[in-house]
Amino acid sequence: MKPVKVGVLGLGTVGGGTVNVLKRNAAEIARRAGREITITRASTKDLSKSRICDTQGITLTTDPYEIINDPEIEIILELIGGAGAVKDMVLKALENGKHVVTANKSLIALHGNEIFAKASEKGVIVAFEAAVAGGIPIIKAIREGLSGNQIEWLAGIINGTGNFILTEMRDKQRNFANVLKEAQALGYAEADPAFDVEGIDAAHKLTILASIAFGIPLQFDKIYTEGISEITRADVKYAEQLGYRIKHLGIARKTSQGIELRVHPTLIPERRLIANVNGVMNAVLVKGDAVGPTLYYGAGAGADPTASSVVADVIDVVRALTSDPENRVPHLAFQANALVDIPVLPAELFRTSYYLRLKAEDKPGVLAEVTRILAEHQISIEAISQKEPLKTKKTVSIIMLTQITLEKEMNAAIAEIEALTTVTGKVTRIRLETLG
Ligand code: NDP
Ligand code: HSE
Repeated sequence: MKPVKVGVLGLGTVGGGTVNVLKRNAAEIARRAGREITITRASTKDLSKSRICDTQGITLTTDPYEIINDPEIEIILELIGGAGAVKDMVLKALENGKHVVTANKSLIALHGNEIFAKASEKGVIVAFEAAVAGGIPIIKAIREGLSGNQIEWLAGIINGTGNFILTEMRDKQRNFANVLKEAQALGYAEADPAFDVEGIDAAHKLTILASIAFGIPLQFDKIYTEGISEITRADVKYAEQLGYRIKHLGIARKTSQGIELRVHPTLIPERRLIANVNGVMNAVLVKGDAVGPTLYYGAGAGADPTASSVVADVIDVVRALTSDPENRVPHLAFQANALVDIPVLPAELFRTSYYLRLKAEDKPGVLAEVTRILAEHQISIEAISQKEPLKTKKTVSIIMLTQITLEKEMNAAIAEIEALTTVTGKVTRIRLETLG
């Protein structure tokens, strides 16, 4: 059988890694796919740049459309990134009857509904395993491995750069900006690293995970998103004293009222495996009604780990080349006509526990005022601790953990606490999940 011809758009971290893995493991891959897979063409922005891969045998161009319009090429790997010009490239490739493999979570989260509709119309596949959690085959695990379950919730560390920064800050007391620079040099960060730091990248990934877990359309605009830039060393330390770690989590949970979709720093008990996932590693906990909790762990970014997912998708596509398009695994796990619009809950209706830190005057009655306000909002306190005041200061830090409460009540309580004359500044609030 003739080799399958593949064209690659983008030869950076992921594109370069993919060329390397496809070349290095060519024989093993052909045994799995049933055919040889050959990269014949690739596009980059700058032809003179040095590459992490050997481009021998690959015709290079700066025009992606030369590849997209090449009738010999059956599979396009979109490894450029972004959701602008690349969307048109992908739609054109699908229009031309080509299968597409992408690592681009922003593209799928923002335009996936349209892209999958076009792919279905043309009878071709869009595969996107590398778009979530780098090398962890989490899409396949949820879409295929857990397809007998009703997924109740999932929670994941799904941004490698963010976890790398938090780990280095905690373990080595390194400065945020320096660690971010290192993550960029290692090829982990997005083209705009604010996507990593502000939680946008994690929100793109959560959009995809929620869709394949619950059979809902992709709806990035409904995700509540907070980044990691506000986390202080003091909160990391206090959390540890209470037996918790702070991790940046993406959480999707089905409740009787709708679905919670949220990305934010979260305290989790240090005894949970996921609390001990460090550096660029990612992990996703998925709770199914039949299987119970399951945990998936691996590198969340980087050239070879991400290439592992891209290449697995290429092999899947090659295996499916001769299959009936009607009988393939649906892109979003559920049949396209069976997606349902379960409401996504506004943040005010989230139910979770909280870590609160506030600065208050060190005098009798202050704590009583704070606890009275919490009680008036039906917020039960799980633990409370008061830190010794500095000799020169008359304020103390009060740390509290609450039981599960409605976010609306917490917002109102915090506003009242901040209005107390005995309380200084803003109340720090970090959500807490036991993930039990
Ligand atoms: P890089 O910036 O390393 O690579 C992007 C590549 O695209 C470069 O080779 C660049 O060319 C090329 N490119 C940019 N614009 C054009 C254009 N108009 N025409 C042709 N080529 C172009 O990005 P990454 O490899 O890190 O990321 C690629 C995708 O993979 C993104 O969607 C990202 O979110 C995703 N991803 C990244 C992971 C990672 O660990 N880095 C992990 C998982 C997903 P040139 O080199 O000449 O500048
Ligand atoms: N910037 C992303 C991260 C790449 O750090 O997780 C992998 O999606």
